Amino acid sequence: MNVTKRPASKLSEIDFSNLGFGKFYSDHMLVKVYEHGAWKESEIVPYEYFPISPANITLHYGQSIFEGMKAFRGDDGIVRLFRPEKNIARLNISAERMAIPQLDEKETLNELVELITLDQDFTPPHLGSSLYIRPFIFAMDPNLGVKISDTYRFMIICTPVDAYYGRNLQTVGIFASKTFTRAALGGTGHVKAAANYAQSLYAAKQAQLKGFKQIMWLDGRDHKYVDEVGTMNIMFVIGDTLITPTLEQGTILAGITRDSVLRIARDLGWKVEERLIAFQEVVDAGRKGTLQECFGTGTAATIAPVGRIGSEGMDDIIVNGNEVGPYAKKIYDELLGIQYGKLPDRYGWTVEIKKPKK
Ligand code: COI
Repeated sequence: MNVTKRPASKLSEIDFSNLGFGKFYSDHMLVKVYEHGAWKESEIVPYEYFPISPANITLHYGQSIFEGMKAFRGDDGIVRLFRPEKNIARLNISAERMAIPQLDEKETLNELVELITLDQDFTPPHLGSSLYIRPFIFAMDPNLGVKISDTYRFMIICTPVDAYYGRNLQTVGIFASKTFTRAALGGTGHVKAAANYAQSLYAAKQAQLKGFKQIMWLDGRDHKYVDEVGTMNIMFVIGDTLITPTLEQGTILAGITRDSVLRIARDLGWKVEERLIAFQEVVDAGRKGTLQECFGTGTAATIAPVGRIGSEGMDDIIVNGNEVGPYAKKIYDELLGIQYGKLPDRYGWTVEIKKPKK
């Protein structure tokens, strides 16, 4: 792969004490072009803007998908990627649904590792912060016809970040909407299509105007069952059971953090159920006092404890006194323990990045 290095690094311009999310970018990006029916060889080049046709098909019709994964720096200084092969596999699932040509997964993983090896110094050192890696593919045809594009661009960019809802584990409020819908049966809810996020913004804004951080989506047909939350999957602890919506409807994203949390929870001996969960069941449990905890899981969000649940026509449910509960704390410690290399990687989830040869 051809690598063109930035002559002078931007590392010193980064305020590692106040990263936020997506404010700063690393020195390089990966670019791979699809044309004449094939993906061409990737290149690593300096991170920079690039020109785009005003008629670019993505700008108009949104044929675009993305992924989110992270690299973590441990106390030992080693940078580790977390389950990157799962993100690449999911990118290909999204590609298929959005009629985008798929990538060679092994080759993509190698290219990703090369990019992160080069830019690993951008991985922040504190617990809760990480290098967020954004692979994405979008249509490039400069043509206004509504059709599957013939040309694409795959890119990977990297941004040092704090956790999406803040560096420390803290509660958020979520609003279950009986008005808006994220995904329909047969739609694109199970893939990371840019359009899923575009259509969520107005609804999320309405929730924010009511004083909630995010929207909790209920099923698109009856607004009866819980699907997911704005930027994460959702889990409830009712009684002594961890319950999360099933993936079977094809309307929620198969989160890699979700999968990791379920695996850890089962191995901790917790009772775990993946099933349809009616919002009314959550409300009833909240009123009866059996809703012990609720938390979101996501790459960007990590573990986001939920302290308050609202919806139309009801009083808010306060979960665990609006405090971080023991289930969320335990899962956070276990998951981040593995990600930051503090605990043994008992599942083989991490990929260590080698220090560059000087
Ligand atoms: C992620 O968790 O990586 C996501 O994709 C959420 C993002 C849209 C902030």
